[in-house]
Amino acid sequence: DSPGMNACIAAVVRLAARNSLRVVGVLDGFGGFVEGRGIDLDEVCVSGAAGRGGTILQTSRNGDLKEKLSPGDPRGMFGRLGIDSLIVMGGGGSMVADAGFPIVGVPCTIDNDVEGTHYTVGFDTACNHAVRAANDILDTAESLPGRVFLIEMLGGDTGHLAVASAFAIGADAVLVPEAKADLAGICGRIKEDMDGGKPYDIIVVAEGVGASQKLVEQVAELTGRRVRPTVLGHAQRGGSPSHWDRTMARRFGEMAALLLLDGESDVMTALVGGSLVDVPLSVAIGAKKALDMDTYNIINRSAK
Ligand code: F6P
Repeated sequence: DSPGMNACIAAVVRLAARNSLRVVGVLDGFGGFVEGRGIDLDEVCVSGAAGRGGTILQTSRNGDLKEKLSPGDPRGMFGRLGIDSLIVMGGGGSMVADAGFPIVGVPCTIDNDVEGTHYTVGFDTACNHAVRAANDILDTAESLPGRVFLIEMLGGDTGHLAVASAFAIGADAVLVPEAKADLAGICGRIKEDMDGGKPYDIIVVAEGVGASQKLVEQVAELTGRRVRPTVLGHAQRGGSPSHWDRTMARRFGEMAALLLLDGESDVMTALVGGSLVDVPLSVAIGAKKALDMDTYNIINRSAK
């Protein structure tokens, strides 16, 4: 789930209603799809949903749909649900192509790690959560100078969220699963800054690296400062979606429904260079999006 998914569902339902189409919401993600569990969605069901985080349909971590379908019977599942095409909302791991039925993907994950699109629904709200948390932490940082703050944010496999948030916050360093950081170098620089009068420093840590007790101790040892960790955890994946996430969720939802109406399949809605486009689903399935190393290097001051 990611903030904005409900806005996307509502957009699909409203567009379908305008075109006299029936929408079935599949419950619990792929698990519910394989078991043929769905509910009819009309405009009353989705009224007020767009502003709520999570997803009204619930989801699951059920692995690869294609694996589940083979040697499954997609037509049988479609028959049980009474549908003839599918819109999949989720991250790269949820996308499936060439499954033997019309399918359109909508990238929805706070991780923003789906290849083929610069943006995934929920990312903006999660970044805003990090910015708000950092603002709150800075109140203490300024009142109690001399500390190093570690802020751990979600991103078990990737640091897109950590890098984007660290850049906006103005963090002094960022640690991500995709790159091995020079911790001694980073801490040496932080020590120098703080010895020179900087009242505090912030290191953003992606979940995949983890603001562990060991890391806290290492940073304390290398900087000679009091080090305090904050783990944003799943609070960062919830909350009412931001204006941007709601807007994009609606655009993507309407676009996905229109693509199916136009007979398109095996494509994903995407934002590329500021434009809404559709890209082959195989792009999203093929690889994870590479981290923005330029921004990573700017934050960690290994760039000009
Ligand atoms: O994929 C989105 C995400 O929020 C990751 O950043 C995070 O590692 C994971 O989900 C946490 O979810 P779970 O509680 O299922 O491990």
